[in-house]
Parts: sequence; C-alpha cells; structure tokens
Amino acid sequence: MAQLWKGRFKKELAKETNDFNSSISFDSRMFEEDIKGSIAHCTMLGACGIIEKSESEIIASELAKILEEIKSGELEIDMSAEDIHTFVEGELTSRLDKLGKKLHTARSRNDQVALDIRMVLKKEIEEIIAQINTLLAVLVNKAEENKETIMPGYTHLQRAQPITFAHHLLAYGFMLLRDIDRLSQTKERMNVLPLGSGALAGTTYPINRDLVAELLGFDSVSQNSLDGVSDRDFCIELASDLSLVMVHLSRFCEEIILWCSWEFKFVELDDAFSTGSSIMPQKKNPDIAELIRGKSGRVFGDLTALLTVMKGLPLAYNKDMQEDKEAIFDAVDTVKMCLTAFTPMVDTMSVIKENMRNAAAKGFINATDCADYLVSKGLPFRDAYKATGEAVALCIDKGLTLETLEIADYKAICTLFDEDVYTAINLEKCVADRTVKGAPGIPSVENQIKEIKEKIY
Ligand code: ARG
Repeated sequence: MAQLWKGRFKKELAKETNDFNSSISFDSRMFEEDIKGSIAHCTMLGACGIIEKSESEIIASELAKILEEIKSGELEIDMSAEDIHTFVEGELTSRLDKLGKKLHTARSRNDQVALDIRMVLKKEIEEIIAQINTLLAVLVNKAEENKETIMPGYTHLQRAQPITFAHHLLAYGFMLLRDIDRLSQTKERMNVLPLGSGALAGTTYPINRDLVAELLGFDSVSQNSLDGVSDRDFCIELASDLSLVMVHLSRFCEEIILWCSWEFKFVELDDAFSTGSSIMPQKKNPDIAELIRGKSGRVFGDLTALLTVMKGLPLAYNKDMQEDKEAIFDAVDTVKMCLTAFTPMVDTMSVIKENMRNAAAKGFINATDCADYLVSKGLPFRDAYKATGEAVALCIDKGLTLETLEIADYKAICTLFDEDVYTAINLEKCVADRTVKGAPGIPSVENQIKEIKEKIY
C-alpha cells in the first residue's frame, strides 16, 4: 500500500524497510478509535469552515461506512500498510479521491496516534475494572461462606495467630479495590485530548479542539503541543497499575498453589481448572495458578520496556515511541486473560475447612492469647510473654499443645495460670475476641464485606 509521504522521495521503500517500519500488525486493533477520531476531526473541520460542511459530511459518512465494513469483515485491513492511520486515509481517498485527501488537514499522525491509544486504553481500563469487580463479587461470596472458618495466619510462612479464611480472602479484596482506584485515576488523567497538537507545534488553522474533545468524550484538551504528542506517561502509568494487579494475582496464586499441596490441602481446585501429568497418574496440578504467577513477569517486562523506550527521547515525537503499543497492549491482554481464568478458578474451588481447622490446632497460634490472658491477670506483657514461651517449650518437650498441657504444669511456670486459661486460649474465642476494626472477628469481617460491596455494586 502506498505511503502517505511520497512527494520528496524518488524510490519505493524497500520491502524489508517497510516490514520493519510498519506497525499495522499491532495498531490495526485501533481501527475503530482511529476512524471515530477522524470522524470527529472532519466534523470539526466542517464546523469551523476549514473545509465545506457538505464535504465534511460526505467524508464522515464514508468513514462510518469503512468502519462498518471492517467490523463486518467485508473490508480487510491491508497488512502491507505502514500503519492503521495510513490504511484508513488510503481507503478513504481511494473512494472519495480529492475529498479523502482533505481529511488530514490540520492534523498529524503524531497527534492522531496519541489520540487513538488514549481512546483504546480508556476502553480497556473500563473492561479491566469490570473484570476486577466480578472477581471481588466472587471473593465477597466466598468470604460470606467462611466467616467462621478458622485457619492459621502466617508470618515467615510459620503459623502465627488465628484468623478466618474470610479475613484472608478479604485482604486480597482490599488490594483489588486499590487496583480499581489506581486504574480509575489513570483513566481520568488520560482523559485529555491531544488532537490539535499537530506534528509538534499545533496548527495555524482555526480549529476548535474543545469541540473535538466534546465529540469524543474527553474532559479537557492538552495545554502544550509538544507534551501532547510526546506524552506516554499514561501508558507507563497503566503498565504500572497492571503490574500491581499482577503482583496481587500472583501472590494469591502462590497461596492457592501451596494450599492445593498435600502439605496444606486447604483447598481443592475444580477439575475444570486443574491439569494432570503425562506420566504420573496421581497428579492434579494447579497449572492455571502457576501460569498466572508466571505471566506477571511479562507485565513487569512491559513496564520496564516502556520506561526504557521513553527515558532518553528528546522532544517531541520519535519513532521509538511506536514501541509503546506492543508493550501496553500485551500488558492489557495478559491481565485480561489472567482475570478471565482466575475468577472462575477461585469461584469453583472448594474449601476444606476441616484441614484449616486442624492446621490451626497445631503450631501454638494461640500463644499470644495465652500471654494476653496472663496480662489480664496483672502480669506485665514482657513477663507474660516469657512465661508463655516456657509453656510452649514444655509442650514441645512433652508432645502437647497449649490446650492439652495440664494445669499443674501451667502453675509450675506461673502461679497466675488457672483453669480459665483453657477458655482463654480456645481458638474460636481467640478469633471472636478480635473485634477491633480490621481484625478477623465476625463484626469486623462483616464490615469489610459491607465496605467492598458498597464499592462494587
Ligand atoms: N505508527 C506510528 C506510531 O505508532 C504513527 C505515528 C507516525 N508518525 C511519524 N511521524 N512517523 O508511532
């Protein structure tokens, strides 16, 4: 397909150069936004008298036809074109000749591509937020079913204090809520129209940028033409938001992988979300969770690629910036794919409450509560801590738990211990007493559920 920039050149572009230079294989996905941007641009040109109103109407309606034809598959995008902008303008010109050639008045591909990416990414952000909302609804549901499911909470992957499975799930809920927040803010900052920045220095035509912004649903117009065409902060910001989404999914997957092991067996994945081994007949592997954990690396790589592409570029547009699209689209597609697999996997996984409860019974996770019991009897916390430590050491020696250690042994360590220690260290009570805001006690967990529900519905 012919280039847009023929006049100055005596030779055709070498095929190798065209293949190398072309971005159509990855920017063709912006065809809808590119055409809608062009329709708004030519409508504005007509409204401002830069071209005749009747001309602008013909151009706009032909562009709309092209859009429909691409969507229906009637018109195939020519993969030898330099980019999607070239293809659309070429197609328009082949249909309308002179009129088609008027479309690019007061515009450059530099501000056009900056516009297209913003339009595409705004839409993608909305889709990702909707997917995260669906995941949050699944988590809230599971949390509601597990408000009383006691499990060990860990630090250093060592059993630490009693929590509930609901509380554990809701921790991810709050991370995901912040992800939504970040994505919405990124979208808001992205919602600035760059069109009208021209190649770099604006234009001498009396264009109306506010009208284009209004037609395309942008909140405002960019204030500096060099910045308008050079800015890819929004891609980097989005890649960073998406990297955090992947950090959260990856940590969650890591836990699911652990929980599926025979060593834990806290959950069992549905057969539809697990795989087998080609040689070991007994295996049921959490491949989906592992793959999501692995794919986080891609998204971090996309972020690094974008930062590196941009860091040394002089103002304004440089062709290096064409590299932005593959990276940010890959990050977007990867996150969408991961959420699509992750949400039903969590939704269908079964929780083995009994194993969680059994694990909670071992590992002295009520030791802090035991020390707090002595504090309630008047001992300073540090002394209570030491006495409880001695009780734990004795249990380890005797192969007992704090629940099964005899009262005589307790009293030999500290005379303040009494029969009511057994009530104080009962795991159900230890969790129930944690009513402080943010803790795993039922009222606090119900508050957390309410807070998340309010944000997602
Ligand atoms: N395909 C190009 C890109 O993605 C479009 C802008 C081309 N501009 C230019 N001055 N060559 O960046």
